[in-house]
Amino acid sequence: MDIYQIKKQSLSELEKIQDPLELEMFRVKYLGRKDGELTVILRSLKDLPLEKRKEIGQEANKFRQELEEAVKNKNKEIENWKLKIGNSKIDITAPGVKLPHGHLHPITKVLRQVEEIFMSMGFEIVEGPDIETEYYNFDALNIPKEHPVRDLWDTFWLKDIDLLLRTHTSPVQARYMEKHNPPFRIIVPGRCFRHEATDASHSHTFYQLEGLMVDKDTSVANFKAVIEEFFKRLFKQEIEIRLRPSYFPFTEPSFEVDIRKNKNWLEIMGAGMVHPNVFKAAGYNPAHWQGFAFGMGLDRIAMMKYKIDDIRLFYSGDLRFLKQF
Ligand code: FA5
Repeated sequence: MDIYQIKKQSLSELEKIQDPLELEMFRVKYLGRKDGELTVILRSLKDLPLEKRKEIGQEANKFRQELEEAVKNKNKEIENWKLKIGNSKIDITAPGVKLPHGHLHPITKVLRQVEEIFMSMGFEIVEGPDIETEYYNFDALNIPKEHPVRDLWDTFWLKDIDLLLRTHTSPVQARYMEKHNPPFRIIVPGRCFRHEATDASHSHTFYQLEGLMVDKDTSVANFKAVIEEFFKRLFKQEIEIRLRPSYFPFTEPSFEVDIRKNKNWLEIMGAGMVHPNVFKAAGYNPAHWQGFAFGMGLDRIAMMKYKIDDIRLFYSGDLRFLKQF
């Protein structure tokens, strides 16, 4: 090879080199003291005519310096790669693979907002068991045995034992009052179960949020104010509500609460003033305490908030639906 061929070939070879061993072989091939291509050229200068000797000598010496420099740079480059990659085969500089991650279910989202609002009004969050005794689900709530009013709640009974899947969150009223003294304000979110036909607004499994406030002179006016404030904050606008007379064995008077959305009234919760018998069952003197209680359907609130027209979508596990939140 003459010096011009060496220049061309060596530089293109050097460019492709990626590891230290290859680089050392390259160095020996071109710059090696014994018979590196450039060394051979320089050694043979003495045999050339003067003119040529000068030209080739200058060219070869200059290129040797250049090539030595290029080898040094390549060496540094390889060292840097090694530092980045470490000893493993994993290229930690490669961009990461994004793992798909989930998000909160729309009911959980609404529940968190609801809890936030009630907590800011001084309510504490309390929970109770999904599997209940007949006593707490019915008896402690002034619902006598064999009384037809029990049919209001179509119950899933557990086979052979005196337990059931709670039909509402109201049993937690009784559980809490047995262990605590008034005054207090609590909310009880939780899952409820009813053995009933499902349709767009009824599911066999759904969520309720119970509320209970007991003090010396808690009144229906307090209830209305709390609920109005709650809806106003949840829907971020003034919400009109109306109370309709109703019947629950554990409240007297009892009412259904409807909220106005556009021109329609929508039933959203049952409520009332705690019945004296419920206070008695908990060991309170009904002459000393007054309280309001309510049980609202969280699913229905989530349906209104997100404009969902079928409750069954919440429990379908359909990702096309869930991914929209
Ligand atoms: C009760 O469950 C009473 N425990 C509420 C109550 C609490 C009254 C405290 C007085 C004092 P009701 O059966 O109406 O009441 O249910 C209350 C709300 O739960 C309903 O307004 C509705 O929003 C929701 N709900 C009831 N059944 C279903 C169902 N199958 N699917 C979805 N939501 C339901």
